[in-house]
Amino acid sequence: MTLLKSKQPDFLSGEEISKLLGVSRTAIWKHIQSIKEDGYEIDSVSRQGYRLLSAPDRLYPQEVQDGLNTATFGQSVVYFDRISSTNEAAKELAAQGIPEGTVVIAEEQTGGKGRLGRHWASPHGQGVWLTLVLRPPIIPMDAPKLTIMAAVAVVRAIAQVSSITPGIKWPNDVLYQGRKLVGILTEMSAEMDTVNYAILGIGTNLNIPRESFPEELQNQATSLLIESGHKISRTRYVQSLLSNLEELYQLLLKGDFDTILDEWRRFSLTIGARVVVTGLNQTLEGLAVDIDETGALMVEDSSGKTIKVVAGDVTIRGTQGQY
Ligand code: BTN
Repeated sequence: MTLLKSKQPDFLSGEEISKLLGVSRTAIWKHIQSIKEDGYEIDSVSRQGYRLLSAPDRLYPQEVQDGLNTATFGQSVVYFDRISSTNEAAKELAAQGIPEGTVVIAEEQTGGKGRLGRHWASPHGQGVWLTLVLRPPIIPMDAPKLTIMAAVAVVRAIAQVSSITPGIKWPNDVLYQGRKLVGILTEMSAEMDTVNYAILGIGTNLNIPRESFPEELQNQATSLLIESGHKISRTRYVQSLLSNLEELYQLLLKGDFDTILDEWRRFSLTIGARVVVTGLNQTLEGLAVDIDETGALMVEDSSGKTIKVVAGDVTIRGTQGQY
């Protein structure tokens, strides 16, 4: 496939392929049949050879990796056409020992998971549903930093592949004009003082037409297709996302979380806004004043007291829907 791509739009003869790969002409023919079944359009003309006409809109490992400029993130990709949840699959694989940087991707999730036990709509081929496996040498208390980092990487990637720069609602919702574009679900397995693995599940509504969203989500969720009017290359987005994630992860491991926080603040929709925070046992209303060095939200209540919020669901006053 890489060979045919590098020759595109020209033909590559069976003889050349056979020499380069050291395999028989029959083996090449069989391989061509199998990649045609994957959706690649290939022209075969006797005495000229094979020519790649088009690649399918699929997040196959070879598509994600062709042109990917990372050292480890995405260098191993586990691909599913359809799966219940990439987070669930990644947890199983991480427990079996797959290396850091492995990405689990699916074209469709039948049981996509959101935060707080919510369902995450993940229609076939229209979004990017992926989970990145990490083995960070950090203490469990620092895990929220991974989520903060992921949100920054997502905003950067969206700005790089589209005309849109979205904002971040604490801790990690990526919104555009009050509607959700991306959700991040971080899960981890940890001991008291070490993290065995952490997984970053990122769901990006890329090319979803409005009518594909369930009706109850149409006011709350949006996609890059709806907002920009263009279909975005899912492969390019995944490559940009992985490259930004890797860069920010290196920064985090070097101990430079401040630089990430500064960027998060610049994209933040929450800081400076009046918010209602719904936690497990209480609801708090006030002004979101900052995010601290652990990633916690600092909220000033009506008595002027500043309260540190480490987890909860935030509603920004004056925005549409639940977001
Ligand atoms: C949220 O509630 O905002 C988080 C949504 C996270 C969705 C992504 S899609 C890929 C990964 N697999 C899942 O089942 N969930 C996450």
